[in-house]
Amino acid sequence: MLLYIFSDIVLFFGRFHPLVVHLPIGFLLLAGIMELVSKKPKYKALQDAIPFTLLLGAISAFVACMFGFMLSTDGGYNTETLNLHQWMGILLTIAAATAYLIKTNLLELPPKAYLGMLVTTMALIGVTGHLGGNLTHGSTYLTQHLPDPVKKIAGIEVQEAYERREIKNLDSALVFNDVILPMMKMRCTNCHNEDKMKGDLLLTSFDGMMQGGKEGNTIVSGDPIKSELYHRITLSHSDDDFMPPEGKTPLSEDQVEIIKWWIENGAENEKLISEVELTEEQRKLIAIEVGVEPEQGATVLPAMNVAKASDETINQVSNKGFYVAQIAEDVPFVDVRGYAGKLEINELLQIKEQVLWLNLSETGITDETLEVVAQLPNLMRLRIEKNSITDDGLKHLGNLQHLEYLNLYGTQVTDDGLKHLEQLSKLKKLYLWQTSVSNEAIEKLKTKLPNLTVIKGTIDTDAQKS
Ligand code: HEC
Repeated sequence: MLLYIFSDIVLFFGRFHPLVVHLPIGFLLLAGIMELVSKKPKYKALQDAIPFTLLLGAISAFVACMFGFMLSTDGGYNTETLNLHQWMGILLTIAAATAYLIKTNLLELPPKAYLGMLVTTMALIGVTGHLGGNLTHGSTYLTQHLPDPVKKIAGIEVQEAYERREIKNLDSALVFNDVILPMMKMRCTNCHNEDKMKGDLLLTSFDGMMQGGKEGNTIVSGDPIKSELYHRITLSHSDDDFMPPEGKTPLSEDQVEIIKWWIENGAENEKLISEVELTEEQRKLIAIEVGVEPEQGATVLPAMNVAKASDETINQVSNKGFYVAQIAEDVPFVDVRGYAGKLEINELLQIKEQVLWLNLSETGITDETLEVVAQLPNLMRLRIEKNSITDDGLKHLGNLQHLEYLNLYGTQVTDDGLKHLEQLSKLKKLYLWQTSVSNEAIEKLKTKLPNLTVIKGTIDTDAQKS
């Protein structure tokens, strides 16, 4: 307990350091100026005031050192710069005190030594002050607004102003680099960067975020509530712990919502938007955030006369390796996700009319499974990426007349398989990365299905270009 009070008091005084440092700077510069101008007969009288001014300078420099040391216990500064700043400050204090001692003849040394000490003191004021500035404002603070050409001549690295990568297609955006990181750069990295790691937390990179701050639990993958970062951005804005601190522009509600989604879904680094599960609402939020037009005409639920499945049936299917969720209130349709190793695909036929969306990605299914999938007459979205699916499997899918979305990423599908998709007149999106399908085959399919967008390349290949 006592220790806490003590460390609080230490910090209380420490915070005065940035204020107090101006005293030695003022006194010592004044001593230097007086030494200069007193060479003129008119100002000769100033000589008498120099020892006293030097003394004030040395004492206040000592006090500034003490306060500075107290402030450094707060942590969160670049240790290299901090060390250098600290030693320069101590040298400065010694130099100022020595200059005083020589000036007053308490230390008998030739006048040249005095002059040397005085010049050293002035130089150290510049160096120490500059390093201190870097600690508080970051090392690029001073030169930040120099015009770029001047920077180049002076050999200063021209820092690109932060601009997000232009994204043409939401699906090709990277979850971390294009969605999460830009928010940090806009609102957080002023204080959480390499030079100034407040709370020992680096928010300029994925690794920094995962490493976390003092508490280490900055991001707890899958659990926003346990994640310190999410906790800090959802506190009341007047709370002392709220991030960003008082006076800084907070993240928008939508941004907070996106961060929550990101953490909940495993805080992914390299995944693309098209590889993650998103509701229409979330897609819209993210589209706005990364600056692409929200997609028009998101899912229009079919107006088919289908009865709702009973809770009992839904439960039965759920017990056979599926997660079944109603798509919206008051509609009979369901969104189904299969679990690897457990799913008994035939069970789906119990709700075959109700299944609208089906996600069987990475579940180890094979071509035979698709024979059953083909019996879901109203299926609109099918995700079967990252499974051992071949052209043989695709031949079953030709009957799915409502299919709009098909993800075949990371399957063994080839050009031959695409032929089976030609009858899918509603198909709007087809994902084909990491398949051996050729561009020619895609072009051919597109002549049959003019509304189709194929997403094939990696990040940089835009869907439309393929
Ligand atoms: C004006 C400077 C400043 C800005 C801007 C800022 N922070 Fe902080 N942050 C701090 C300081 C100072 C601390 C350490 C004191 C504390 O824990 O409250 C801190 C601590 C934290 C911690 C706790 C680290 C730990 O483990 O103890 C998290 C998490 C955090 N900030 C997240 C953020 C996020 C997210 C943003 C952007 C929305 C942000 N900060 C913006 C100054 C800032």
